[in-house]
Amino acid sequence: MQSKLLLWYDQEGRTLPWRVRPEDRAAGIKADPYAVWLSEIMLQQTTVPHAKPYWRKFLEAYPTVTELANADRDQVLAMWAGLGYYARARNLHKCAGVIRDDYAGEFPQSEAELLKLPGIGPYTAATLAAICFDEATNIVDGNVERVISRIFRIDAPLPKARPEYRCMAATLAPKKRPGDYGQALMDLGATLCTPRNPKCDLCPWQNDCAAHKGNCETDYPKKIKKVKLPVRYGAAFVLISDEHVMLQRRPDKGLLGGMMGFPGTDWSSELSEPLNAAPIPRNWEKCEGEVKHVFTHFELRLDVYRAEIANRDAEGIWAPLNSIKSFALPTVMTKVLSLAQK
Ligand code: ADE
Ligand code: SF4
Repeated sequence: MQSKLLLWYDQEGRTLPWRVRPEDRAAGIKADPYAVWLSEIMLQQTTVPHAKPYWRKFLEAYPTVTELANADRDQVLAMWAGLGYYARARNLHKCAGVIRDDYAGEFPQSEAELLKLPGIGPYTAATLAAICFDEATNIVDGNVERVISRIFRIDAPLPKARPEYRCMAATLAPKKRPGDYGQALMDLGATLCTPRNPKCDLCPWQNDCAAHKGNCETDYPKKIKKVKLPVRYGAAFVLISDEHVMLQRRPDKGLLGGMMGFPGTDWSSELSEPLNAAPIPRNWEKCEGEVKHVFTHFELRLDVYRAEIANRDAEGIWAPLNSIKSFALPTVMTKVLSLAQK
Protein backbone atom coordinates (compact mmCIF):
# COMPACT_ATOMS: atom_id res chain seq x y z
CA MET A 1 0.00 0.00 0.00
CA GLN A 2 2.82 2.37 0.81
CA SER A 3 4.52 1.98 -2.54
CA LYS A 4 1.22 2.31 -4.38
CA LEU A 5 0.51 5.59 -2.62
CA LEU A 6 4.03 6.93 -3.16
CA LEU A 7 3.90 6.04 -6.85
CA TRP A 8 0.61 7.90 -7.11
CA TYR A 9 2.18 10.89 -5.35
CA ASP A 10 5.14 10.86 -7.72
CA GLN A 11 2.73 11.09 -10.63
CA GLU A 12 -0.35 12.91 -9.34
CA GLY A 13 0.67 14.75 -6.16
CA ARG A 14 0.02 18.47 -6.16
CA THR A 15 2.71 20.96 -6.99
CA LEU A 16 2.69 23.57 -4.24
CA PRO A 17 5.09 26.49 -3.90
CA TRP A 18 6.39 25.35 -0.48
CA ARG A 19 6.65 21.73 -1.50
CA VAL A 20 9.83 20.08 -2.74
CA ARG A 21 8.65 17.48 -5.22
CA PRO A 22 10.28 14.04 -5.05
CA GLU A 23 12.22 14.55 -8.28
CA ASP A 24 13.66 17.83 -6.96
CA ARG A 25 14.64 16.29 -3.68
CA ALA A 26 16.36 13.50 -5.53
CA ALA A 27 18.36 16.30 -7.19
CA GLY A 28 19.44 17.51 -3.74
CA ILE A 29 16.95 20.31 -3.03
CA LYS A 30 15.89 20.42 0.61
CA ALA A 31 12.66 21.71 2.07
CA ASP A 32 13.09 24.96 3.99
CA PRO A 33 11.60 24.33 7.46
CA TYR A 34 10.67 27.98 7.82
CA ALA A 35 8.76 28.03 4.53
CA VAL A 36 7.04 24.73 5.30
CA TRP A 37 6.15 25.82 8.83
CA LEU A 38 4.55 29.03 7.50
CA SER A 39 2.50 27.06 5.01
CA GLU A 40 1.34 24.52 7.57
CA ILE A 41 0.20 27.19 10.03
CA MET A 42 -1.67 29.02 7.27
CA LEU A 43 -3.28 25.83 5.96
CA GLN A 44 -4.75 25.09 9.37
CA GLN A 45 -7.30 27.76 8.76
CA THR A 46 -7.69 28.17 5.07
CA THR A 47 -7.48 26.50 1.69
CA VAL A 48 -4.41 26.16 -0.50
CA PRO A 49 -5.54 28.82 -3.04
CA HIS A 50 -6.30 31.34 -0.29
CA ALA A 51 -3.03 30.67 1.56
CA LYS A 52 -0.71 30.95 -1.45
CA PRO A 53 -0.54 34.77 -1.81
CA TYR A 54 -0.11 35.20 1.94
CA TRP A 55 2.67 32.68 2.01
CA ARG A 56 4.47 34.53 -0.81
CA LYS A 57 3.98 37.89 0.90
CA PHE A 58 5.40 36.60 4.20
CA LEU A 59 8.44 35.01 2.60
CA GLU A 60 9.14 38.15 0.65
CA ALA A 61 8.84 40.44 3.68
CA TYR A 62 10.56 38.04 6.08
CA PRO A 63 12.82 35.65 4.16
CA THR A 64 14.04 33.91 7.32
CA VAL A 65 12.60 33.02 10.69
CA THR A 66 14.96 35.48 12.36
CA GLU A 67 13.69 38.30 10.17
CA LEU A 68 10.14 37.35 11.13
CA ALA A 69 11.16 37.36 14.79
CA ASN A 70 12.77 40.78 14.44
CA ALA A 71 9.71 42.23 12.77
CA ASP A 72 7.30 44.43 14.63
CA ARG A 73 4.45 42.29 15.91
CA ASP A 74 1.78 44.71 14.75
CA GLN A 75 3.23 44.62 11.27
CA VAL A 76 3.06 40.82 11.28
CA LEU A 77 -0.53 40.96 12.49
CA ALA A 78 -1.38 43.45 9.76
CA MET A 79 0.11 41.19 7.12
CA TRP A 80 -1.94 38.32 8.51
CA ALA A 81 -5.16 40.32 8.07
CA GLY A 82 -7.59 38.36 5.95
CA LEU A 83 -6.33 35.00 7.11
CA GLY A 84 -8.38 35.45 10.26
CA TYR A 85 -7.70 34.56 13.85
CA TYR A 86 -4.88 36.71 15.02
CA ALA A 87 -3.98 34.38 17.87
CA ARG A 88 -2.29 32.22 15.30
CA ALA A 89 -0.28 35.18 14.01
CA ARG A 90 0.68 36.13 17.55
CA ASN A 91 1.90 32.59 18.15
CA LEU A 92 3.72 32.62 14.84
CA HIS A 93 5.66 35.69 15.89
CA LYS A 94 6.25 34.29 19.36
CA CYS A 95 7.52 31.00 17.94
CA ALA A 96 9.89 32.85 15.61
CA GLY A 97 11.26 34.71 18.65
CA VAL A 98 11.89 31.47 20.51
CA ILE A 99 13.69 29.97 17.50
CA ARG A 100 15.83 33.11 17.19
CA ASP A 101 16.66 33.27 20.90
CA ASP A 102 16.81 29.65 22.03
CA TYR A 103 17.72 27.80 18.84
CA ALA A 104 20.12 30.23 17.16
CA GLY A 105 17.63 30.88 14.38
CA GLU A 106 17.43 27.25 13.23
CA PHE A 107 14.34 25.08 13.54
CA PRO A 108 14.90 22.12 15.85
CA GLN A 109 15.02 18.90 13.88
CA SER A 110 12.97 16.41 15.87
CA GLU A 111 9.25 16.00 16.43
CA ALA A 112 9.74 16.05 20.22
CA GLU A 113 11.69 19.30 20.16
CA LEU A 114 9.35 20.97 17.65
CA LEU A 115 6.42 20.12 19.89
CA LYS A 116 7.83 22.38 22.59
CA LEU A 117 7.48 25.48 20.44
CA PRO A 118 4.52 27.85 20.80
CA GLY A 119 1.76 27.25 18.28
CA ILE A 120 3.22 23.93 17.15
CA GLY A 121 0.89 21.06 18.08
CA PRO A 122 1.12 17.34 17.38
CA TYR A 123 0.04 17.67 13.75
CA THR A 124 2.50 20.44 12.85
CA ALA A 125 5.38 18.83 14.74
CA ALA A 126 4.84 15.48 13.01
CA THR A 127 4.49 17.11 9.60
CA LEU A 128 7.58 19.33 9.86
CA ALA A 129 9.73 16.55 11.26
CA ALA A 130 8.75 14.24 8.41
CA ILE A 131 8.86 16.73 5.53
CA CYS A 132 12.00 18.61 6.55
CA PHE A 133 14.02 16.12 8.56
CA ASP A 134 12.90 12.71 7.31
CA GLU A 135 11.70 11.55 10.71
CA ALA A 136 9.24 8.68 10.45
CA THR A 137 6.34 10.32 12.25
CA ASN A 138 2.62 9.65 12.08
CA ILE A 139 0.94 12.56 10.29
CA VAL A 140 -2.79 12.73 10.99
CA ASP A 141 -5.09 15.57 10.04
CA GLY A 142 -8.77 15.60 9.16
CA ASN A 143 -8.10 14.38 5.62
CA VAL A 144 -6.03 11.49 6.89
CA GLU A 145 -8.70 10.50 9.41
CA ARG A 146 -11.24 10.30 6.61
CA VAL A 147 -9.04 8.14 4.37
CA ILE A 148 -8.06 5.85 7.24
CA SER A 149 -11.65 5.47 8.43
CA ARG A 150 -12.62 4.22 4.97
CA ILE A 151 -9.63 1.97 4.39
CA PHE A 152 -10.29 0.09 7.64
CA ARG A 153 -14.02 0.77 8.01
CA ILE A 154 -13.49 2.09 11.51
CA ASP A 155 -16.88 2.09 13.20
CA ALA A 156 -15.85 3.80 16.41
CA PRO A 157 -17.00 7.39 16.04
CA LEU A 158 -14.98 10.58 16.01
CA PRO A 159 -13.97 12.56 17.91
CA LYS A 160 -13.95 10.15 20.84
CA ALA A 161 -12.11 7.37 19.02
CA ARG A 162 -9.44 9.68 17.59
CA PRO A 163 -6.62 7.66 19.25
CA GLU A 164 -7.79 4.54 17.41
CA TYR A 165 -7.64 6.39 14.08
CA ARG A 166 -4.13 7.56 14.92
CA CYS A 167 -3.18 4.03 15.79
CA MET A 168 -4.51 2.63 12.52
CA ALA A 169 -2.76 5.40 10.59
CA ALA A 170 0.47 4.46 12.36
CA THR A 171 0.20 0.85 11.14
CA LEU A 172 0.55 2.14 7.58
CA ALA A 173 3.10 4.92 8.07
CA PRO A 174 6.40 3.96 6.44
CA LYS A 175 9.98 4.39 7.62
CA LYS A 176 11.08 5.55 4.18
CA ARG A 177 9.96 8.84 2.60
CA PRO A 178 7.76 9.76 5.58
CA GLY A 179 7.28 13.34 4.37
CA ASP A 180 6.19 12.31 0.89
CA TYR A 181 3.94 9.64 2.34
CA GLY A 182 2.20 12.06 4.72
CA GLN A 183 1.73 14.64 2.02
CA ALA A 184 0.47 11.95 -0.35
CA LEU A 185 -2.11 10.88 2.19
CA MET A 186 -3.25 14.45 2.69
CA ASP A 187 -3.39 15.03 -1.07
CA LEU A 188 -5.40 11.83 -1.49
CA GLY A 189 -7.90 13.07 1.09
CA ALA A 190 -8.05 16.53 -0.46
CA THR A 191 -8.39 15.48 -4.09
CA LEU A 192 -9.84 11.94 -4.36
CA CYS A 193 -11.06 10.67 -1.01
CA THR A 194 -13.30 13.67 -0.48
CA PRO A 195 -16.17 13.81 2.04
CA ARG A 196 -18.80 13.43 -0.68
CA ASN A 197 -18.43 11.61 -4.03
CA PRO A 198 -14.95 10.16 -3.56
CA LYS A 199 -13.27 9.34 -6.88
CA CYS A 200 -12.45 5.75 -6.02
CA ASP A 201 -11.84 4.74 -9.63
CA LEU A 202 -8.72 6.95 -9.61
CA CYS A 203 -7.57 5.89 -6.14
CA PRO A 204 -4.31 3.95 -5.71
CA TRP A 205 -5.88 2.13 -2.76
CA GLN A 206 -9.16 1.08 -4.35
CA ASN A 207 -8.28 -2.61 -3.97
CA ASP A 208 -7.24 -2.15 -0.35
CA CYS A 209 -10.20 -0.17 0.85
CA ALA A 210 -12.82 -1.86 3.02
CA ALA A 211 -15.38 0.91 2.55
CA HIS A 212 -14.97 0.82 -1.23
CA LYS A 213 -15.39 -2.95 -1.19
CA GLY A 214 -18.59 -2.50 0.81
CA ASN A 215 -19.77 0.35 -1.43
CA CYS A 216 -20.25 2.45 1.68
CA GLU A 217 -17.46 5.02 1.37
CA THR A 218 -19.51 8.00 2.48
CA ASP A 219 -20.72 6.25 5.65
CA TYR A 220 -17.23 7.01 6.95
CA PRO A 221 -15.85 8.61 9.06
CA LYS A 222 -18.52 7.90 11.67
CA LYS A 223 -19.25 10.73 13.99
CA ILE A 224 -21.04 10.79 17.32
CA LYS A 225 -24.59 12.00 17.04
CA LYS A 226 -25.22 14.08 20.09
CA VAL A 227 -28.54 14.38 21.80
CA LYS A 228 -28.86 18.09 21.67
CA LEU A 229 -29.45 20.47 24.53
CA PRO A 230 -30.75 23.90 23.60
CA VAL A 231 -27.94 26.29 22.80
CA ARG A 232 -27.49 29.75 24.23
CA TYR A 233 -25.05 32.29 22.93
CA GLY A 234 -23.11 35.09 24.48
CA ALA A 235 -19.91 37.06 24.39
CA ALA A 236 -17.29 37.68 27.07
CA PHE A 237 -14.67 40.41 27.17
CA VAL A 238 -11.15 39.93 28.43
CA LEU A 239 -9.46 43.25 29.07
CA ILE A 240 -5.73 42.90 29.62
CA SER A 241 -3.25 45.35 31.04
CA ASP A 242 0.27 44.63 32.19
CA GLU A 243 -0.28 40.96 33.14
CA HIS A 244 -3.63 41.71 34.76
CA VAL A 245 -7.14 40.95 33.56
CA MET A 246 -10.28 42.77 34.48
CA LEU A 247 -12.94 40.79 36.34
CA GLN A 248 -16.39 41.66 37.56
CA ARG A 249 -18.47 39.98 40.19
CA ARG A 250 -21.61 38.52 38.66
CA PRO A 251 -24.94 39.64 40.08
CA ASP A 252 -26.13 37.43 42.92
CA LYS A 253 -29.19 36.30 41.07
CA GLY A 254 -28.91 34.06 38.07
CA LEU A 255 -26.45 31.48 36.89
CA LEU A 256 -23.04 31.59 38.58
CA GLY A 257 -24.49 34.28 40.84
CA GLY A 258 -21.88 36.05 42.92
CA MET A 259 -19.00 34.37 41.16
CA MET A 260 -16.17 36.24 39.54
CA GLY A 261 -16.19 36.43 35.80
CA PHE A 262 -15.44 38.45 32.73
CA PRO A 263 -17.90 41.11 31.66
CA GLY A 264 -20.17 40.06 28.84
CA THR A 265 -23.58 39.87 27.25
CA ASP A 266 -26.57 38.03 28.58
CA TRP A 267 -26.79 34.41 27.46
CA SER A 268 -29.71 33.94 25.15
CA SER A 269 -30.90 32.11 22.08
CA GLU A 270 -29.45 34.78 19.82
CA LEU A 271 -26.48 37.05 20.02
CA SER A 272 -26.97 40.53 18.65
CA GLU A 273 -24.65 43.52 18.88
CA PRO A 274 -22.31 41.86 21.40
CA LEU A 275 -19.96 44.84 21.44
CA ASN A 276 -22.66 46.90 23.17
CA ALA A 277 -21.87 44.85 26.26
CA ALA A 278 -18.14 45.61 26.17
CA PRO A 279 -16.89 47.18 29.41
CA ILE A 280 -15.19 49.98 27.48
CA PRO A 281 -15.25 50.97 23.83
CA ARG A 282 -12.15 49.55 22.29
CA ASN A 283 -10.83 47.85 19.19
CA TRP A 284 -11.87 44.43 20.50
CA GLU A 285 -10.26 41.48 18.83
CA LYS A 286 -12.34 38.34 18.43
CA CYS A 287 -10.42 35.26 19.57
CA GLU A 288 -10.20 32.14 17.50
CA GLY A 289 -12.78 29.50 18.34
CA GLU A 290 -15.44 29.72 20.97
CA VAL A 291 -15.96 28.57 24.51
CA LYS A 292 -18.42 25.73 24.88
CA HIS A 293 -19.74 24.82 28.23
CA VAL A 294 -22.54 22.49 29.17
CA PHE A 295 -24.84 23.59 31.95
CA THR A 296 -27.58 21.32 33.20
CA HIS A 297 -30.28 22.69 30.95
CA PHE A 298 -28.42 24.23 28.04
CA GLU A 299 -25.18 24.38 26.20
CA LEU A 300 -23.45 27.74 26.24
CA ARG A 301 -21.33 29.06 23.39
CA LEU A 302 -19.36 32.15 24.13
CA ASP A 303 -17.47 34.33 21.72
CA VAL A 304 -14.44 35.78 23.44
CA TYR A 305 -13.09 39.22 22.70
CA ARG A 306 -9.81 40.54 23.95
CA ALA A 307 -8.16 43.95 24.14
CA GLU A 308 -5.11 45.39 25.81
CA ILE A 309 -4.94 48.79 27.45
CA ALA A 310 -1.95 50.66 28.81
CA ASN A 311 -3.36 51.67 32.18
CA ARG A 312 -5.61 49.77 34.54
CA ASP A 313 -8.10 52.58 34.75
CA ALA A 314 -11.25 50.74 33.63
CA GLU A 315 -13.87 49.97 36.29
CA GLY A 316 -13.49 46.48 37.65
CA ILE A 317 -11.35 44.14 39.67
CA TRP A 318 -7.88 43.84 38.22
CA ALA A 319 -6.62 40.35 38.82
CA PRO A 320 -2.92 39.57 38.38
CA LEU A 321 -2.60 36.67 35.94
CA ASN A 322 0.01 34.96 38.08
CA SER A 323 -2.43 34.59 40.95
CA ILE A 324 -5.64 34.18 38.98
CA LYS A 325 -6.34 30.92 40.84
CA SER A 326 -7.08 32.85 44.00
CA PHE A 327 -10.02 34.50 42.26
CA ALA A 328 -11.82 31.16 41.98
CA LEU A 329 -13.11 31.57 38.48
CA PRO A 330 -15.90 29.23 37.47
CA THR A 331 -14.82 26.70 34.85
CA VAL A 332 -16.55 28.49 32.04
CA MET A 333 -14.63 31.67 32.87
CA THR A 334 -11.36 29.74 33.03
CA LYS A 335 -12.15 28.54 29.53
CA VAL A 336 -12.78 32.14 28.48
CA LEU A 337 -9.40 33.18 29.84
CA SER A 338 -7.50 30.36 28.21
CA LEU A 339 -9.09 31.15 24.84
CA ALA A 340 -8.08 34.78 25.24
CA GLN A 341 -4.51 33.72 26.04
CA LYS A 342 -4.02 31.35 23.11
N1 ADE B 1 -2.64 20.28 4.01
C1 ADE B 1 -1.93 20.88 4.97
N2 ADE B 1 -0.62 20.65 4.80
C2 ADE B 1 -0.51 19.86 3.71
C3 ADE B 1 0.58 19.27 3.05
N3 ADE B 1 1.82 19.46 3.48
N4 ADE B 1 0.32 18.50 1.98
C4 ADE B 1 -0.94 18.33 1.57
N5 ADE B 1 -2.01 18.86 2.14
C5 ADE B 1 -1.79 19.62 3.20
FE1 SF4 C 1 -11.16 6.79 -0.39
FE2 SF4 C 1 -12.36 5.51 -2.38
FE3 SF4 C 1 -9.74 5.42 -2.14
FE4 SF4 C 1 -11.26 4.13 -0.38
S1 SF4 C 1 -11.07 3.71 -2.56
S2 SF4 C 1 -9.48 5.40 0.09
S3 SF4 C 1 -12.99 5.53 -0.24
S4 SF4 C 1 -10.97 7.23 -2.58
